[in-house]
Amino acid sequence: MAPRRILIDTDPGQDDAVALLTALASPELDVVAITTVAGNVPLPLTSRNARMMVELAGRTDVPVHAGCPRPMVRTLYTAEYVHGPSGIDGAELPEPTIPLAPGHAVDVLVDTVMAAEPGELTFCTLGPLTNVAMAIVKEPRIAGRLAGLVMMGGGFFEGGNVTPAAEFNIYVDPHAAHVVFTSGVPITMLPLDVTHKALTSDARIARFRSLGTRAGDAVAGMLDFFDRYDEEKYGTDGAPLHDPCVIAYLLEPSLFAGRRCHVDIEHHSETTMGMTLVDWWGVTKRDPNALVIDTVHADGYFELLVDRIGRLR
Ligand code: BDR
Ligand code: CA
Repeated sequence: MAPRRILIDTDPGQDDAVALLTALASPELDVVAITTVAGNVPLPLTSRNARMMVELAGRTDVPVHAGCPRPMVRTLYTAEYVHGPSGIDGAELPEPTIPLAPGHAVDVLVDTVMAAEPGELTFCTLGPLTNVAMAIVKEPRIAGRLAGLVMMGGGFFEGGNVTPAAEFNIYVDPHAAHVVFTSGVPITMLPLDVTHKALTSDARIARFRSLGTRAGDAVAGMLDFFDRYDEEKYGTDGAPLHDPCVIAYLLEPSLFAGRRCHVDIEHHSETTMGMTLVDWWGVTKRDPNALVIDTVHADGYFELLVDRIGRLR
């Protein structure tokens, strides 16, 4: 089967970094481009970190394009308190040598989709939806030409991780999320309800370290750093490994389960800004606009990640 053609929009972030490495190591996926957005850390750092992952994976054939430096309406809110000042603290890696590819991420998203056959490309989003929403605003026809958009973001029964109501990626740019969820693009959403079932642990991190490779060491180092915040917050052994769920879902959807629902994005009330209103029980009778995933086979998920990171030399 021909590899699935994807564009990854990301704000690395340790968990984004693991997602990028997993995608770049997987022959079932053709990563057409990586686009960066401001989120966990400001845009210059997310763009640096994405290039570091491309180099670590030995995949400098994949272009990295920088996108929007701030959300559509709100002031940028970053999460160095989780990820450290660089966004990928814990990885002992050299500065990247490859430059950013020419072309703004928003233009790349639009032009790549318009040049491809309808249904050929899938967007994978690991951060705030600013670039994707701006692309939809610029060229609304892309929503109908995509095979789909698979995203990490939101939360419903699990609540939020930035406020009691909101998950980080949606909270940072709720207006962008509103644009995306009302665009008609087929969405698969991996919210906190599933990622909170995909916890790293000392034993799982040790599996990456025991690969004995640069990529294995970098992943183990990053996850050791990333863990500390959520372990203290939730009292767990390990942290939710959010963003690789998107790539794992593409590679092995049978590891996951969910249901089709209508999802609204709160973008008016300051108290609940960025909340994802998932109509899990179908009480509004509105047509579903997303497949909302709430279950993962966690052991299978980590097996898959270790296997893929283990392929990088
Ligand atoms: C999401 O926010 C970021 O901190 C992570 O990279 C992930 O994309 C989890 O809420
Ligand atoms: Ca992210």
